[in-house]
Order: sequence, then structure tokens, then C-alpha cells
Amino acid sequence: MEQQHRGQWGSNLGFLMATIGAAVGLGNIWSFPFRMGANGGFPFLIIYLVLAVLVGFTIMLCELAIGRHGGGSVLVSYQKINRISGGFLGILALVSPFLILSFYTVLGAYCVQYVGLNFAELLGIFNVSSVSGAESFSTMLTNQPLAIGSTFVVIAACFLIIRGGIKDGIEKFNKVGMPALFVMLVIVIIRSVTLPGAIDGLKFMFAPNFEPIKNDFIGVLAAAGGQMFFSLSLAMGITVTYGSYLSKKESLVRNSMVIIVSDTIVAIMAGMAVLPAAFALAGEDAKLSGPSLLFVTLQDVFNAMGAFGPIFGILFFLFVVLAAITSTIALIEVLVTFVIDRRTAAGKAPNRNAVVGIVCLIIFAEAALVAADGLGSNGLWVPFQSSGLDLGTCWLEFMDFISEGVAMPLGALLMSLWIGWIVGPEVIRDEVSQGGHKMSDGLYSFFIICVRFITPLAMAMILFGQIKTFLSPV
Ligand code: PFF
Repeated sequence: MEQQHRGQWGSNLGFLMATIGAAVGLGNIWSFPFRMGANGGFPFLIIYLVLAVLVGFTIMLCELAIGRHGGGSVLVSYQKINRISGGFLGILALVSPFLILSFYTVLGAYCVQYVGLNFAELLGIFNVSSVSGAESFSTMLTNQPLAIGSTFVVIAACFLIIRGGIKDGIEKFNKVGMPALFVMLVIVIIRSVTLPGAIDGLKFMFAPNFEPIKNDFIGVLAAAGGQMFFSLSLAMGITVTYGSYLSKKESLVRNSMVIIVSDTIVAIMAGMAVLPAAFALAGEDAKLSGPSLLFVTLQDVFNAMGAFGPIFGILFFLFVVLAAITSTIALIEVLVTFVIDRRTAAGKAPNRNAVVGIVCLIIFAEAALVAADGLGSNGLWVPFQSSGLDLGTCWLEFMDFISEGVAMPLGALLMSLWIGWIVGPEVIRDEVSQGGHKMSDGLYSFFIICVRFITPLAMAMILFGQIKTFLSPV
């Protein structure tokens, strides 16, 4: 039964752009390159790809199939398979995007501020280049009104995109935004790799080094698995939600592969943009990952570049803003679809405008807290700080711990066990086979092994690795 109010992607390309947009985010830019370099370079990439094929592909295919089969929000889609157990998984997949949004929007807002900073430098408004990246970053963290205001701007931009709907809002934006993101990335790479000394950054990222793998193979596996999992935006309801708007004609297997390959290519390219520049211009002990890579190290790089520095600064931070916004709209749409589907099931009009507005306001409330906290710079109270349990030293880390650290890997672990052992892999095969796309016996056997054994094992290890990393700050 086709639900009129829901609509569909206008084309498979539009679906792909939106889903790749959701996958390509801050993780590709500030975690992948450093993790690859620190965990063995090229051999790490191979491990990452093997995990992406065995685990990432399995979960993505399941999520796309569950969404398209269910034809509804993440909760409706899971419940269509089983009301009780599916309901539990569906709720888990709603909690994570809600929590991630509290800080992802704030990080996007910091990037918007850096676009502004470089723009001011370009116009010669302030002598910005005389201020170090570290100073700019700490001023930004402690300026609460500016942090909250720019977070509002990011959420308002997402509101304007999402209210247009799947096809006329999200798809349209991604179809322009993603190619633009790619072009900006290529320009920044060309500048970065042609700086003197850039080769050291490329060596750090790519040169094979088997030491980390020999010393701590499990640690490398967990790092690759955690990265792959976050980067592909799995267990966040996104793939289920976006899949629910996909036509039965399209191939789920091919789409899963395209998304995984594209996300990995952008992660490698992002490394070629950030690391050579960081090695060339930012000095020996520059920070090479996390927020400091962008807001301290790379800003110093742009400051040191001379007249063209602000132009590359603007291009680079616009690239990051786009990557963050395309992921943010996906996260918000998970919640919006959930509310709209509930309204229509109760016989009410979808009223997308109002729903998007209210969801965005609620997200703004939680994000304002994270923005005011400024990564712990402003002395706000943080839960469990005095309990001896270290669940993050600031609100961002706390929200990240519950979502990325626990809810996401747990959700994916339970989902693969559920499909593999409880409801049975046939549900997925039947959905994948729609529209004349037969799932070959070989692929189905491979899928069964992955969903029953390899994925649960890997996800248990990733869950353990995530909790361990979060609880032992570096
Ligand atoms: N995949 C995004 C990244 O690599 O930064 C992060 C992300 C976005 C995770 C959206 C989950 C999500 F739902």
C-alpha cells in the first residue's frame, strides 16, 4: 500500500547523494586520516575495507531492506517485522540521533564561525592572521552567546532544507551540496599536497607500518571497526529512514556498495587535504585529530599561507560545514519522519512544516546546553562527574559516550543477532529481491555468515573497544 503523504526520492542518484551526504561528515575529516596514520597506514586501510565489506555492508543492507520493507519511520519499520522486539530496536535507533544532534550541530556551528573568521580576514576587517588558531578556538569556546547563536543558525538552515520534504528539500540540497563539497575538497587537496614538506603528511597517512598491528592487533581492529561504523552512520535510523523512501525498483546491494566506497574515498581524500598541510605548516607537535586539528592546527596553516590563506580557509571550512549539514539533516529527518508517521497513523494531517519546526526547537534546546558548555571551558555541571565514573569531562563527551559509545554499537549488535537468529535472514533476502534484483545463492550464503557470526562478533568487539576508549581518556 503506497502511502501518499510520504513521497519518495525523485531518483536513485538523489537517494545516493543524500545517503552519502549523511555518511560523509566530521568523522571522515578529523578521525579517519589520523586513525589511519596512527594505526599502520596502508595496512589499516585494508583492515578497514575488510570490515566495511563484512560488517558495514551487512548492516547497511539490513537497514536499507528493513526501511524499504517497512515503508515507515525507523520505529514503524522495525515493528513491521516484530512489534515487541522490533519496537525496542526502533526506540534505540531513535535515541542515538537525538543525542548526537546535541553536539553535531554545535560542531557545525564552530565551522560556520571559522568561515566567518576567514572571511573577516579576507576583507581585512580584523588582523585575524595575527591571532593563533589556539586563541581563536578558546575565544570561540568561551563566547557563549556566539556559540548558541551560531548553533541556532545551523539548525535554522537545516529547518529550511528539511521542511521542503524528502524530494524537494533534502534531495535537492544534496544534489547541489555534495558535488560542491567534492569540488571544494579537490581544490584544497591540490593546495595542500603542493606545499613544501607536504610529503611527510602523505607518508604519515599511507606508509605501511606493521608495528601497531603487531603490538595491538585487537586495538587496531577496534579502531578500524569503530571508525567504519560511525563513518557509515550505521544504527542511527538514518539508513532505515532514507531506505523507507526508496523505490522498490532500485538495487539495495549496489546502493550499499556505492555508499560504502564513496564514503571511504572521501575519507582518504580528506586525509590528503588535511594531513599534508598540517605537516607542512603547523610544526612538529601540531594536533592531528579531533576539533583541534581543524580549529587550531589548520587555522594556523591558513594564517601562515599569506594572502591566499583566507580564501583556502573559507573554502575548507565551507567544505566542512557542508559535510556537517548533510549529516545533520539526515539525523533530524529520522526524528521528523517518526513524528509525521505517528501523526498520519492517528489520522492527522502530516503538517511537515510545524513538525520540523518543533523538532528543530527541541534540538536547539539540548544543543544550546552543549554550546554553552564550550567543551567544558565554561564550568557547567556535567552528569556523573563526582561519581568516580568518567563518562566524559564535558557535555559533548557525555552525549557522545551514550550514543556513539554505547547505543549505536549495541543497536547494531542486537539488530544483526535479531535478523540472523530471531526473525531470520529471509526478510532481508525477500526485500533485496524486489524489482527483479535476484539475490544470488552465493551472496545470500555470504550474507548469512556475516549477519549471524561475523557482524555480531565484530560489533561486540567494537562495543567493548568504544567503552574502553571512552573510559580511558588519552
Ligand atoms: N558519519 C558521520 C561522520 O563520519 O562524521 C557522522 C554521523 C552522522 C554519524 C550522522 C551518525 C549519523 F547519524
